[in-house]
Amino acid sequence: MSENPLLRSARARLASARSVVVLTGAGISADSGVPTFRGADGLWRNYRAEDLATPEAFDRDPRLVWEWYNWRREILATKTPNPAHDALVCMEARTEDFHLITQNVDGLHRLAGSQRLSELHGDIWKVRCTSCRVVIDNRDVPLALLPHCHTCGGLLRPHIVWFGEALDEQVLTDSVRAVESCDVMVIVGTSGLVYPAAMLMPAAQAHGAFVIEINLDPTPYSSDVALSLQGRAKDIVPLLL
Ligand code: APR
Repeated sequence: MSENPLLRSARARLASARSVVVLTGAGISADSGVPTFRGADGLWRNYRAEDLATPEAFDRDPRLVWEWYNWRREILATKTPNPAHDALVCMEARTEDFHLITQNVDGLHRLAGSQRLSELHGDIWKVRCTSCRVVIDNRDVPLALLPHCHTCGGLLRPHIVWFGEALDEQVLTDSVRAVESCDVMVIVGTSGLVYPAAMLMPAAQAHGAFVIEINLDPTPYSSDVALSLQGRAKDIVPLLL
């Protein structure tokens, strides 16, 4: 069977690029068995992520929000990187200037071995004190509720950027700088609905980058990108090498 010419073209672009940025979303982790946010399997006790991942929800009922995070931690603790995560580690090794930006908080890119990584929405395996703001690693599954800071006794919260909260300024600045100077941008498994991540693709394009999308389904990006490849991340990303 002859190879998809779009795939060949994507591979050629990547092979000759000096600078590559990859933006990933929940779709890449779906192939490791992690539920996506907007899929039916992302629901917990009939709450949507948008109802729980907010500062207001945490102020109202921190235990409920922590119970949800404990459920997610329990699921994530059993998951491992898939061939798409691994392929991005190889891509980093052979690209002169490589930057991986992820919206995922599951830690799978780091576990796979990606080095230059911006986690736009934080890390589920870190907790932050709501009083003194110290951030610490915590891999307890489940985490004893409610957790308090060892330093000041304040209530701990997940080190996650919730809906309505600002992204870490440095992380966002680094990401914008990377997309504005890359030759090729690859977008893997994101619905493109959540800002400011959703503005990174247009920013790359405005600066002349060749944009490649990989997604199971068509997205708001599909008609705008230079090249759209439909399929599972774990099947397609390794073929880009
Ligand atoms: N391979 C490729 N793409 C996939 C796969 C797969 N195996 N499975 C699902 N997808 C695609 C879906 O078609 C969808 O476009 O992945 C996308 C997942 O979309 P969302 O669930 O909306 O996830 P994401 O875009 O990462 O959400 C962004 O929103 O809820 C917040 O902070 C949260 O980081 C998250 C952000």
